[in-house]
Amino acid sequence: MTKPLLSRSQTIIQQALLRCPPEFAHNLGIAGLRQFGRLPGTIAPRPGQAKTIFGKRFDNPLGLAAGLDKDAQAVLGLAKLGFGFVEVGTVTPRPQPGNPQPRLFRLPQHEALINRMGFNNLGMHAMAAQLAAVRRSGRLSTTIVGVNLGKNKDTPLDAAVTDYLAGMQTLYPYADYFTLNLSSPNTPGLRDLQQAEALDQLLGPVKETQARLANRHSPVPICLKVAPDLSAQEIHMIAERLLAHEIEGLIATNTTLSRESVAGHPHADEAGGLSGQPLTETSCAVVRQFRAVLGETYPIIGVGGIGSPKQAQAMLGAGANLLQIYTSFIYQGANLVHKIVADTV
Ligand SMILES: Cc1cc2nc3c(=O)[nH]c(=O)nc-3n(C[C@H](O)[C@H](O)[C@H](O)COP(=O)(O)O)c2cc1C
Repeated sequence: MTKPLLSRSQTIIQQALLRCPPEFAHNLGIAGLRQFGRLPGTIAPRPGQAKTIFGKRFDNPLGLAAGLDKDAQAVLGLAKLGFGFVEVGTVTPRPQPGNPQPRLFRLPQHEALINRMGFNNLGMHAMAAQLAAVRRSGRLSTTIVGVNLGKNKDTPLDAAVTDYLAGMQTLYPYADYFTLNLSSPNTPGLRDLQQAEALDQLLGPVKETQARLANRHSPVPICLKVAPDLSAQEIHMIAERLLAHEIEGLIATNTTLSRESVAGHPHADEAGGLSGQPLTETSCAVVRQFRAVLGETYPIIGVGGIGSPKQAQAMLGAGANLLQIYTSFIYQGANLVHKIVADTV
């Protein structure tokens, strides 16, 4: 298929999916991408500005954010779209159904989504089987795969660390990096783990486990993913904990609880996290504040409301080394990957 034809058919698929109910469209999209990954042909990031961050080479700086491929079912298809990296998960140790449906809402006027999925996923062993098959296939050349870890809803907060360690242990051989997700608004109490004492109780054992597992494998870097709804003091405190525990990277930000910029929309009062264009300025501001405290060289992945090459450049300008998208990919499709990556060359 010629490139314009491929691009046109991608647009048609995109538009058709946007006419379906959101979660149905999501499942159809994942199934389609899974099949797409099975087609013969090379799988590689589109050439863009290559970067080496926390010891890993990224062929281009644009990644897919966590939450779209929660069970790592479509890694090859997503990699085929040209992302420099794909983050799978959030995965929890045990499978869980997530919140009752409906739990995903489109706000097209704002190019935004509200979701309260609640970590619906098939559990870490199912993900390990998927990623083992991806690795065995040998088809993934240089696309980096991150694994985003969470806790089960019914694991008490004071035992959360056991869930994160279980995820690391099970998925260590397959991950190029791990993300500790402490910032989903849809798991009760999860964001409390961003507080100083809770962070210390989590990050200490996580680093010990990383060191122990690295005896048998190459060290897998660890990132912390934070919420956008943080005060300046909280940003300061988290940055200090990251440096003190030698956590390798930061991902900022997850979805927001704020509804200021979508007030009046029929879905504005749905519970959950808001993503997409209403998040652009906040996520950039959070990245800028973290950069100021963390210093020039600390690895930061910027995510939240990036929907154009200009917004990608703004996020890089705010201090991000790498970028991720989710919501704009839903509305604009794979052509956006090409546009943003081309702009970074
Ligand atoms: C439907 C949906 C599900 C998500 N699930 C997760 C998740 O499981 N884990 C996670 O860390 N972030 C999750 N996110 C947050 C995204 O990874 C990202 O941080 C956020 O949406 C902001 O980026 P965006 O504006 O480009 O969408 C989810 C977002 C959406 C829209």
